[in-house]
Amino acid sequence: MPKKTKKASESFVTMTELVLPNDTNTLNNLMGGRLMHWMDIVAAISAQRHSNRIVVTASVDNISFTKPIALGNVVTLQAKVTRAFNSSMEVHIEVWAEDIPSGTKYMSNRAFFTFVAVDQGGRPIDIPEVEPETAEEKDLYDGALRRRQLRLVLGKRMKPEEAHELKSIFKLDQ
Ligand SMILES: CC(C)(COP(=O)(O)OP(=O)(O)OC[C@H]1O[C@@H](n2cnc3c(N)ncnc32)[C@H](O)[C@@H]1OP(=O)(O)O)[C@@H](O)C(=O)NCCC(=O)NCCS
Repeated sequence: MPKKTKKASESFVTMTELVLPNDTNTLNNLMGGRLMHWMDIVAAISAQRHSNRIVVTASVDNISFTKPIALGNVVTLQAKVTRAFNSSMEVHIEVWAEDIPSGTKYMSNRAFFTFVAVDQGGRPIDIPEVEPETAEEKDLYDGALRRRQLRLVLGKRMKPEEAHELKSIFKLDQ
């Protein structure tokens, strides 16, 4: 039986937070751990929207903190599932920081989280495929297979020689 398909846009989630004193470090900037917590939540909701299942975080790709987010800033997190495999799905998250009084807004972080849909016993369960529609969704969908292979190789769940799509970008298969 063919797998069910859901549009990427159906998993889109936006979450808005205000950086309060309890969220900051001693320099009055948002703590990295608090931001990662918010990223985990917005991504989990997105993964639930796609799979209609309980989901658990399986892995988190690199997160860089290049520009601090100040006390009083508004943080907007946006998440969308890029691609689903068997039970796992990759979620793309963008984080925007906004200083409303000065009218400035910039993208502060971007990351990919992987979630696995599980049954009540915590066992992985099959999920629908993703149908990308926009050019950006198609681009993220195409790259998701290579990123999956990279994280599975790093996690020792896949042999490097089996990661064909990943190797192809380094021209190692020719
Ligand atoms: C994630 C988890 C369900 C995977 O269970 P498992 O017994 O290893 O299951 P499998 O080997 O069948 O893998 C299931 C899927 O997870 C994916 N997966 C497992 N570990 C992964 C990792 N580190 N990175 C990316 N994907 C991973 C597999 O590729 C597979 O994907 P697919 O079904 O789409 O092909 C299990 O490891 C778990 O429950 N982890 C704890 C989750 C948790 O508590 N998260 C919160 C962290 S504080």
